[in-house]
Amino acid sequence: MSILTETFTLNNGVKIPKVGFGTWQIPDGDTAYNAVAAALKAGYRHIDTAYVYGNEKSVGKAINESGIAREDIFLTSKLPGEVKDASQVAGYFDKTIKNLATDYLDLYLIHAPWPWGQIGTRFDKENVAVWKELEKLYKAGKIKSIGISNFDAHDVKNLLDNTDIVPAVNQIQYYAGFTQPKNTAFSQDNGILVEAYSPLATGDLLHNPTMTSLADQYKVSVPQLALRFVIQNGLLPLPKATSQAHIEANAELDFTISEADMATLNAIQDAAPTHFHNPTQK
Ligand SMILES: NC(=O)c1ccc[n+]([C@@H]2O[C@H](COP(=O)([O-])OP(=O)(O)OC[C@H]3O[C@@H](n4cnc5c(N)ncnc54)[C@H](OP(=O)(O)O)[C@@H]3O)[C@@H](O)[C@H]2O)c1
Repeated sequence: MSILTETFTLNNGVKIPKVGFGTWQIPDGDTAYNAVAAALKAGYRHIDTAYVYGNEKSVGKAINESGIAREDIFLTSKLPGEVKDASQVAGYFDKTIKNLATDYLDLYLIHAPWPWGQIGTRFDKENVAVWKELEKLYKAGKIKSIGISNFDAHDVKNLLDNTDIVPAVNQIQYYAGFTQPKNTAFSQDNGILVEAYSPLATGDLLHNPTMTSLADQYKVSVPQLALRFVIQNGLLPLPKATSQAHIEANAELDFTISEADMATLNAIQDAAPTHFHNPTQK
């Protein structure tokens, strides 16, 4: 069975394909349309976008013109981190649904616990109020699962202590050598599936010597090793690619990294030290 048809089960019973196709920095128009169309053709059934990526229209068009039934595709989008006024949530959700030309989302995430210009500032009260709006959309059946992104342990606990529904997913920056042990464990211990964003460090880990030598031993590419590493740690990777060859290669993950090599990868120094690191996360 291809990894693309394997699923994790979220804490509300919903199944989510084990590999998602990332779309950050894929320009709207032909590039996003062609990338998503190629991913669906290659067998991906889980697409990750966001309002702020500016490409929801092309992502939706590629999905709607794929010939694949909507219910067979798992579609995620995100409420901008800048939206901390609960009264604006329903309006942003409607814009996203309209852009994607769909009736519902499989997963809707609060993109970040802070506006990107104020990384690290606490918005505890606002995040609770915003989350309660997501709960309403969930209960109304407009979203199949709700979750968060870039939330550290404090931000997650704030929601757990003050709201009704436990997030299904926390999407965080995660790749070999940057695995945020504390934040990852806190979410996982509370039944929240952790999704790994930038699993290839946006391309910056491709030439890491330890990764290269291990990949050679398994006769796979560094991206394949990096993605398999994420899955074997129980997380869901979201690789992004625009090249058709990359899209297809990233779905070929039918090999197993030995326990000893997983230990090496889990102990590796940051595989992409010059990569931008979310400063609230470690
Ligand atoms: N929630 C958040 O705040 C957040 C933040 C960042 C990312 N994300 C999500 O996570 C997704 C992935 O992260 P990312 O966009 O940072 O990128 P990434 O998946 O870590 O890396 C993508 C880069 O690696 C290259 N690449 C992909 N597969 C390859 C292969 N097999 N061989 C060689 N190069 C390969 C791509 O090249 P080509 O494009 O040329 O093929 C691209 O330059 C995003 O697209 C987004 O959906 C979420």
